[in-house]
Amino acid sequence: MKVVIYGTGPTALVFYHEVLTNGGMEIVAFCCAEKDISEDNYCEKPLVPFENIISKFPPDEYEMLPMFGHKRMRDRLEAHNAVKNLGYRIPNYISSKANVEDGVVWGEGNVVYSFSHIGFGCTFGNGNIIRQQVYVGHQGKIGSFNIIAPAVTIGGKCIINDLSFIGLNATIATYAELGTECLIGAGSLVTKYAEPYSVSFGSPAKAFRYHNDTGVMF
Ligand SMILES: CC(C)(COP(=O)(O)OP(=O)(O)OC[C@H]1O[C@@H](n2cnc3c(N)ncnc32)[C@H](O)[C@@H]1OP(=O)(O)O)[C@@H](O)C(=O)NCCC(=O)NCCS
Repeated sequence: MKVVIYGTGPTALVFYHEVLTNGGMEIVAFCCAEKDISEDNYCEKPLVPFENIISKFPPDEYEMLPMFGHKRMRDRLEAHNAVKNLGYRIPNYISSKANVEDGVVWGEGNVVYSFSHIGFGCTFGNGNIIRQQVYVGHQGKIGSFNIIAPAVTIGGKCIINDLSFIGLNATIATYAELGTECLIGAGSLVTKYAEPYSVSFGSPAKAFRYHNDTGVMF
């Protein structure tokens, strides 16, 4: 598959290097908003304004994968919708070095990095990023547009809703649930439930502020 990556921030850069190392996708170009372009290339590939992308890399020949980060998590949903509106198919990328058990259901635009484990019967919505060495236990329900940082452990039958960011090495205990748009601090333990729109951390994790208006931002 020939794929254009939408985004030129750290999330796109890290993804490019995963693909460079482990293959599984042919990245042909990058694109971003015209106002953010100062050079014609990014990672040695053509860099094209999103506004002109259809004429150079049309959706009947190319797929497009948005790779936006956590600076403003809601950008991830908006980018996905913008790509769909242009008529592109959004591929999933599952690293050849990830371990995926049977019966896992994927939406579109999910990325699973090397050395992660996805247990049987999990379901994923769209646009999730699962970084390296993440464990997702059996029959988890993962919504859409979440970012799960390296070395996170998610026990069996957890529910992760949408647009959350789970920080490095955090643990979500078996059967626990994250409300929508949570930010879970690095190294935290969510035992049962994290409130929607909360920044929660510690062991056990407790909410210490809320971001209802903005969603998760760093
Ligand atoms: C939770 C988090 C968002 C809070 O950030 P912040 O709002 O800037 O908070 P501060 O750094 O000002 O810390 C406020 C207090 O909370 C404590 N704290 C912050 N994060 C904590 C965490 N994850 N676990 C325990 N305590 C934490 C700080 O030590 C500080 O305590 P103090 O007031 O007694 O000094 C951030 O610390 C975090 O964990 N981010 C995730 C980073 C990550 O995993 N990135 C992944 C990159 S791939």
